[in-house]
Amino acid sequence: MKRIEVAVLGATGMIGQRFVQLLEGHPYFEIVGLYASERSEGKRLGDMLKLKDHVFGRETSRMVVEQIDVRKIKKEARMAFSGLPSDIAKDYESSLADSGVAVFSNAGSHRMRADVPLLIPEVNPDHLELVRRQKTFGEGGYIVTNPNCSTTGLAIPLKAIDDAYGLRTVVVSTYQAVSGAGYPGVPSLDILGNIIPFIKSEEEKMETEILKLLGKMKGGRVHFADFEMLANCARVPVIDGHLESVTYELKKEASVEALRKTLSSFRSEAQGLGLPTLPRVPILLRDEEDRPQPLMDAWAGEPERARGMAVTVGRLRKKDNYYKMFILSHNTIRGGAGGSVSNAELACAKGILR
Ligand SMILES: NC(=O)c1ccc[n+]([C@@H]2O[C@H](COP(=O)([O-])OP(=O)(O)OC[C@H]3O[C@@H](n4cnc5c(N)ncnc54)[C@H](OP(=O)(O)O)[C@@H]3O)[C@@H](O)[C@H]2O)c1
Repeated sequence: MKRIEVAVLGATGMIGQRFVQLLEGHPYFEIVGLYASERSEGKRLGDMLKLKDHVFGRETSRMVVEQIDVRKIKKEARMAFSGLPSDIAKDYESSLADSGVAVFSNAGSHRMRADVPLLIPEVNPDHLELVRRQKTFGEGGYIVTNPNCSTTGLAIPLKAIDDAYGLRTVVVSTYQAVSGAGYPGVPSLDILGNIIPFIKSEEEKMETEILKLLGKMKGGRVHFADFEMLANCARVPVIDGHLESVTYELKKEASVEALRKTLSSFRSEAQGLGLPTLPRVPILLRDEEDRPQPLMDAWAGEPERARGMAVTVGRLRKKDNYYKMFILSHNTIRGGAGGSVSNAELACAKGILR
């Protein structure tokens, strides 16, 4: 099968480089262009390495980064993966969609648009149909987004629980890794030996995005979920992997044992499509009293291409009407580049990307 030509936007950043990592040797996609700002124009990717746990292949390292040029991308690529800051992404992503390019974005700028899917293959694959409402769809151009990194890890277990018992209230407190702030991110003197109990706009994003993700498609639009959602977000001195403590109330009572079964047996229709970057088992349950931990569980997921794509859940407990658990997911893989790549794979499987 001829692979689909793709461009990576923001290729010198944390998410952009994770895109390149996941797209190297990908069975569906082939990178034909790397783009960033004029600061990076003309530099080789290998000289701009930000990842500390991955080395690009020789050919990839030699690729030269260019300043974004919508007309050039339109000529060479059928689709674009975007790891741009939200304020920069907004216009570039719209122009690319107008030019007939399918955009799979990590940025926040279009996530809450009524005609843009905010998508996780295991949670709401039917929301992908929203792209048909975008005026550029007929020409092959559209925008698909994935949620912010802390929301993605939470949405997958909540989807399993909501389907089985109905959520009434969810209160989440996050312990978020520094890679979530991009490169170079939080200054070391602010974060080493410290915790910062504020991440700009993060709580608002979690509280709204989760309700769109778990919303139902009816009459061609998303009807948002109606449970109460409260978030507290903090940055901690961890490199990769967002840990979250979650307390929730259900509409239908469940035993801890029943919840365990619900979470560990959860599979969505997307798991049956054989998408290369989706984990065979999306939620991994840990029994130990001290798991999940970022250092031990951030890279959970099988097969090899889906490493970092599984969400780990542990410490399931019940007290009176409250249920408690910890969850962990890799913020730049599951919550970042891997989210967009798996969304693009879903679009291929559903015939929306040809
Ligand atoms: N990090 C995470 O865990 C995470 C997770 C989910 C979503 N996101 C979202 O993903 C996006 C990227 O985040 P990140 O963490 O990868 O940020 P980052 O490390 O700061 O990278 C930003 C990238 O955007 C490029 N860029 C900046 N200004 C530009 C301009 N004016 N024109 C063209 N390119 C420009 C940068 O290029 P230069 O090197 O040339 O400046 C760089 O390649 C953001 O929207 C973020 O909210 C991040």
